[in-house]
Amino acid sequence: MNAIKVLNFDTAGVAKAAAILTAGGRVAFPTETVFGLGADARQGPAVASIFEAKSRPAFNPLIVHVADIEAAQGYAEWTPEADRLARAFWPGPLTLVLPLRAGHGLSDLVTAGLPSVGIRVPAHPAAQALLRAFGGPIAAPSANPSGKISPTTTAHVIAGLGDRIEAVLDGGACEVGLESTIIGFAPTPVLLRAGGVPREDIDAVLGAPLTDHTAPEAKGITAPGQMASHYAPTLPVRLNASSAKPGELMLGFGTMACDINLSDTGELREAAANLFRHLHALDALSKTTSPAPTGIAVAPIPAEGLGAAINDRLRRAAAPRP
Ligand code: TXA
Ligand code: MG
Repeated sequence: MNAIKVLNFDTAGVAKAAAILTAGGRVAFPTETVFGLGADARQGPAVASIFEAKSRPAFNPLIVHVADIEAAQGYAEWTPEADRLARAFWPGPLTLVLPLRAGHGLSDLVTAGLPSVGIRVPAHPAAQALLRAFGGPIAAPSANPSGKISPTTTAHVIAGLGDRIEAVLDGGACEVGLESTIIGFAPTPVLLRAGGVPREDIDAVLGAPLTDHTAPEAKGITAPGQMASHYAPTLPVRLNASSAKPGELMLGFGTMACDINLSDTGELREAAANLFRHLHALDALSKTTSPAPTGIAVAPIPAEGLGAAINDRLRRAAAPRP
């Protein structure tokens, strides 16, 4: 990829950043917490390319950034408690994890196949300007290579991802400098990640103390990356299969005979974008096929690049069920 474009935070720079997102590209942008690495949350390949740029080893769910409460309500099932928190702290460093609303239109990769979505309205003027110019939801993890420190300046972003992403919006410093506080509902409010909004402030708005789910063992309940078996299709899954055995459905990769192909051209980005959708489709197919299939055979996926994350998700799909 060519050198990263550094876009000024002015009308022309914001318009250019929005156009890159519309075209399926990646733009780093400042939020009040850290720089986010943004892509259109509705475009699967664009979302997949975020994981690729970060070399993120697993498809952790990403936070969806929107311009205001009304936009958030288009993607999440709204509740009175969510409304109180949103009105108290948005725009600002608070992420709410809420059930996905039917017809949401987000890529499955954003939510890692979960029935919930993490959503927030950032306060930074550059993030707000970009969201309004783009006019859609922006999926964004922190704009750093996986395992490295989160970026809070344009220079950090360029040092970490300069040769891997299209552009960075140079909007000035991140006021908060550490990631948003994440609140889930189980169904009462629980703290999933400590962050930019102190929990005491949240307790004060709710009138009751949050339950703390930040301990590693508690996190396993909601963070799919920590569970051995996650997003398991109804049928057993057999990995690294060169062909289907009698009775099996075949999930292919590259040129081969199969029921559904992750990418017939063998592209990992396309395969990543298709993964959850195709597993859902195979599940549906297994219910309408007669005689009933006995399992799903999955073609080998190369281990490099996005393949590591695809294989991670497939291993979870194939893991012994609890
Ligand atoms: O401040 C922030 O939140 C920054 C800026 C860019 O907005 N973003 C950020 O993203 O920190 P990231 O990818 O580093 O952390 C997102 C975390 C995930 O690791 C996951 O724990 C949680 O958000 N998350 C997102 N969606 C979720 C969901 N549906 N269920 C449970 N947890 C979720
Ligand atoms: Mg991060």
